[in-house]
Amino acid sequence: MQIAVIGSGYVGLVAASGLAELGHNVVCVDNDLDKIATLNAGGMPIHEDYLQEVVSRRHGKTLTFTDSLPDAVAHAKIIVIAVGTPAGPDGEVDLSYVESAVREIARCATGHKLIVEKSTVPVYTSEWIRQILRSNSRRNCTFDVASNPEFLREGTAVTDFLYPDRIVVGVDSDSAARLLREMYTPLIDGSYSERPSAVPKPDAAPLPPLYIETSAKSAELIKHASNAFLAMKISFINAVANICEVVGADVDEVSQGIGSDSRIGAQFLRAGIGYGGACFPKDVAAFRAVARKCGVEFPLLENARRINEEQRARFIEKVRAALGELRGKRLGVLGLAFKGGTDDVRESPAIKIVDSLLSEGCRIRAYDPAAMGRAQQILGSRIDFAVDAYSAAKDADALLILTEWKEFASLDLDRIRRVLRRPIVLDGRNLYDPQGVTTAGLEYHSVGRPLPAGSPDAKPASVFTNGHAKSNGHVKTNGHAKSNGNGNANGYLNGNGHNGNGNGNGTGREKAREAGVRQTNPVRAE
Ligand SMILES: NC(=O)c1ccc[n+]([C@@H]2O[C@H](COP(=O)([O-])OP(=O)(O)OC[C@H]3O[C@@H](n4cnc5c(N)ncnc54)[C@H](O)[C@@H]3O)[C@@H](O)[C@H]2O)c1
Repeated sequence: MQIAVIGSGYVGLVAASGLAELGHNVVCVDNDLDKIATLNAGGMPIHEDYLQEVVSRRHGKTLTFTDSLPDAVAHAKIIVIAVGTPAGPDGEVDLSYVESAVREIARCATGHKLIVEKSTVPVYTSEWIRQILRSNSRRNCTFDVASNPEFLREGTAVTDFLYPDRIVVGVDSDSAARLLREMYTPLIDGSYSERPSAVPKPDAAPLPPLYIETSAKSAELIKHASNAFLAMKISFINAVANICEVVGADVDEVSQGIGSDSRIGAQFLRAGIGYGGACFPKDVAAFRAVARKCGVEFPLLENARRINEEQRARFIEKVRAALGELRGKRLGVLGLAFKGGTDDVRESPAIKIVDSLLSEGCRIRAYDPAAMGRAQQILGSRIDFAVDAYSAAKDADALLILTEWKEFASLDLDRIRRVLRRPIVLDGRNLYDPQGVTTAGLEYHSVGRPLPAGSPDAKPASVFTNGHAKSNGHVKTNGHAKSNGNGNANGYLNGNGHNGNGNGNGTGREKAREAGVRQTNPVRAE
């Protein structure tokens, strides 16, 4: 089938190459001339596993790149819109990129076309697109409009596209439903995975995926509601982690206990410095705006956003508590991307934390396996960039882990201790087991987990008085938890010296702990 994909960003490029992988003839169009030139020269504008491989084997055959939208849509039966939908004022979606793409399609298309919105857009956008097409198209052209939200995650985008949990198509006509089923047939019937050249299927991916056909409006809502729910889940566990810090409980244990309830599920229950990226912050705001327009109060969404912001502030307070005065401190930073596996730094919590620490007068040397180029465009020469994790740590007063790259979870901790000026690690992603890091001679602070027994700063945990938690913790919680303000990472260890880890969950777990590596559930990364 002949398909045009408009936009060659994280979604457009992955969708275009994925559809070519499925056997379609795809033309991917972008108005960013540099991107198109890079792609046509065999380069790759973004970092995603398998993407270079898939693009290389299809490019010039069933996958082509152009900056001419009329050329791209001329022979296409299906036109997939995958342009950006950034946040506008008041959190409402800025649909100007979608609008200009639709107007251009209307001006040049002939025959019958199915327009598919893959960009994340508010409910009613398919109606609005229909109106634009009706009033701008040529007489000899007819259109169908469908919604096909994309659920891929950066870092695992290619395998997410080719082995999704579910495919949601919002269609308001039989012909649109038929065309989209045809487009996805090799995924729906599982035949793609059987091809010898197929990208390998991740173990956890269901085969075949659930294929969900809904109305266009429902599909539009499914995407916004999904992202808002995931963001809420992250904020929920972060708020729970903050309670754990006050009472000396371990958020990993609590997450496991909550997440093993099949009604809740284990994913997105990892405490840390909060969510970021090009989707969650703007989609939460956009869904709030949708609710507001519909006259529906939805304070959960605002609370998810607020907790997320506060989580970064809490982490900076932890750095302050561990180091005292921040001015002049030299910090090694691991991770600048908004999450592991991608070079995307849009709304990255790591960049925001680096920014705040710079304004506090810290000097920073950072390392990220993929995102340093993009980070440099934002941070310029305000920080130094290191060639690896150990040079980032060299002579630093503390090492901060801000992105959950896999390679940051298996550092040589002895070497880290030797190169640091002060042996302090602040882990905003809970990549390590506290006991293992402490055994390696490092002072270790993470999110929502007790300091291990024997750690220099471990103190008796909070007690409850008059219904309020009285904590030795260094982080204040909305005026209820009393802090002794001693700047130490207290409040982690509970009264009986139990470090929250010795729950006898088997030898494999103990071994992982000895190695200092965090024991995780076999969940797909966020
Ligand atoms: N990034 C993700 O993880 C992700 C996941 C699911 C859904 N989404 C949604 O998908 C959409 C795209 O996201 P993205 O991250 O790929 O954005 P992006 O900014 O990486 O890419 C968008 C691309 O569209 C191009 N573009 C804009 N207007 C154009 C036009 N008129 N003609 C041709 N090209 C045009 C831009 O030059 C850019 O290359 C957004 O709505 C986003 O919310 C993103």
